[in-house]
Amino acid sequence: MITSALTYANGPLHIGHLAGANLTADIYARTLRNLGKDVLYVGGSDEHGAAITIKALKEGTTPQAIIDKYHKMFDESFRKIGISFDIYHRTSEPIHHETSQGFFRALYANGEFIEKESEQYYDEEAKAFLADRYIKGTCPKCGYEEAYGDQCESCGSTLSPTELINPFSTLTGNKPVLRKTTHWFLPLDKYEAWLKKWINEGVLDGQKVHDPKKWKNHVIGQCNSWLDSGLQPRAMTRDLDWGVDVPQEIAGAEGKKLYVWLDAPIGYISASKQWAIDHKKDWTPYWKSNDTALIHFIGKDNIVFHALIFPAILKAEGSFILPKNVPANQFLNLEGNKISTSRNWAIWLHEYLEDLPGKEDVLRYYLTRIMPEQKDSEFTWKGYQDANDNELVNNLGNFVNRVLVLTNKYYDGEIPDFDTNLAIVSSEGEDTTTFQDSELLLVFDKLQELVEFVQKFEFRAALKVLMEISTIGNQFLQFNAPWKSQKTDPEVTKVVMNTAAQMVVALSVAMEPFIPFASAKLRKMLSLPAVAGKGELEAILTALSEGQLLVEPGHKIEKAEYLFERIPDELIEAQRAKLQASAPVVASSYEPVKPEIQFDDFTKLDIRTATILTAEKMKKAKKLLVLTVDLGFEKRTIVSGIAEYYSPEDIVGRQVLVLCNLAPRKLRGVESEGMILMAENAEGALSFVAPEDGWGNGFGVA
Ligand code: MF3
Ligand code: ZN
Repeated sequence: MITSALTYANGPLHIGHLAGANLTADIYARTLRNLGKDVLYVGGSDEHGAAITIKALKEGTTPQAIIDKYHKMFDESFRKIGISFDIYHRTSEPIHHETSQGFFRALYANGEFIEKESEQYYDEEAKAFLADRYIKGTCPKCGYEEAYGDQCESCGSTLSPTELINPFSTLTGNKPVLRKTTHWFLPLDKYEAWLKKWINEGVLDGQKVHDPKKWKNHVIGQCNSWLDSGLQPRAMTRDLDWGVDVPQEIAGAEGKKLYVWLDAPIGYISASKQWAIDHKKDWTPYWKSNDTALIHFIGKDNIVFHALIFPAILKAEGSFILPKNVPANQFLNLEGNKISTSRNWAIWLHEYLEDLPGKEDVLRYYLTRIMPEQKDSEFTWKGYQDANDNELVNNLGNFVNRVLVLTNKYYDGEIPDFDTNLAIVSSEGEDTTTFQDSELLLVFDKLQELVEFVQKFEFRAALKVLMEISTIGNQFLQFNAPWKSQKTDPEVTKVVMNTAAQMVVALSVAMEPFIPFASAKLRKMLSLPAVAGKGELEAILTALSEGQLLVEPGHKIEKAEYLFERIPDELIEAQRAKLQASAPVVASSYEPVKPEIQFDDFTKLDIRTATILTAEKMKKAKKLLVLTVDLGFEKRTIVSGIAEYYSPEDIVGRQVLVLCNLAPRKLRGVESEGMILMAENAEGALSFVAPEDGWGNGFGVA
């Protein structure tokens, strides 16, 4: 049972979504299916929660319109990039409302909830309680000023609204007040002991249910940091008008909705139920059988919800299994910055698919290659181009192409038969080894290695092994040089080409989870059915281990076409330019705005127009000029720190603005009787701010 974090339907998908929860799960699901395992892989849109309503408010539309728009986009984009969900569902479906309400009823009936009055932030102008996402403020951990009440998107910390410094309501910008309201809480503190044991020892109710050594360190680390600081009861309901209703028969349910982090993960179960209805299957073994491994693929901002809170909910309900692993990925950065929806610093999937049609696999390949499995990683367009040109084109594409072209050329597209005796490299007693055997044994070992890496959620390493198979193939061709031996020794060439063909067939299956479009294309060229997740990899492993061929002599293949193409520099430049152009200038290069002043404060400054009469360098001070200025009503001496930007001869006669009621100050022994106003940029360079020439002296500003 494999899940990808349900995506909030409040903005388009970007490469971070793929690298975190979706491409990972897809590679895993496809590999397991190819190994002949019974896999159910679900995903969907997360359509509740304040993120959706906020987006609707911003765009002046309804939450329903927002979720419809993004759900359709997600469904399409995921399909186009080849995410092989068995079902892509949505949490607005009635079956999901029923399922999550069913959970609430079960927990309520089991006496798991505590009904509690608590203080929550309330916006007095909007007359509404503020859910976590409606409150923003300064993150107490990193100082980011736009952190949400539940989470800081800058440092990834999970927060609660009352931790924010200077909280403000996103509805009105007002400072919210605390007000009493009643909610149902899940007493996470009561579950702390078993959660600790389950996370750290893999033991639940005295049974070993998973191996913590197989969990990622950062996942266990984040859970323990929560567990160690002590779990708090967590409200499972909210005062909202968009979401799943608290079952109305429960007293006090009116106006209350399920907390989105209660309803959303139950979405995996509703999706499974819908899939079962669609395919006339039973969903329960996938969620209730001890033989099932439940694996949640997520990004690191979802860890505590999937590794602590959802397991607590599942156990409180009582009839479900808990996840066997929660292989969370870290974050993917982009060209030196954090991916940010609000700053438009992202590669949007729907735009990628439109701008670079036919390059779905290149994105899949590169994202897998740089996947943030253990630490944050970075996408660069240069890296993308290099991975494509040096690896997909030069290595994999090249090997496949050489084999197919030569097979067509020498044998009219028929896999050649060969004389086994020709290929014997060693024989001991009865056993003979041919170089074909030893070469294919190498491939067999690599395939096993690849599978092991995937099962350990080490997709980068698995991809590397895939490319090693192709490297082995290229070296094999290089070493045996069939293009030479064909003239001198055509019989040996047949063994070489037959062996190379076996390798290409193995590759066509092994590559499917990573680059499924190239796999399908290659299978077509090989006149073999597309890999369909029906144990094809398992079959190949068995065949190789039994010394059988993967494709028989006489099998006829089709004409060779290139699997991959070089990516021209212009294409990369265009994408880079697009990214730079769409993103507003990074806010952090600006000084923060100073505290508010009143008009009276402003009028205290006496700023007048003036003309520079004389200017000379101050001795032994490379920054300072000594100026005399004409203020109309009097002349003054001013020492000004502009010498690095203006030379004396260039500024005599210029009109300037002078702050003339600034207390006099001695600089290097010269009394300065005012200040020339300059504009200063981020690099500290200075420029005059002044009225137009001939404006006249001694006048003020307004
Ligand atoms: N919508 C959440 C996010 O994008 C993930 C929800 S995962 C689920 O961060 F389990 F709750 F569905
Ligand atoms: Zn932070």
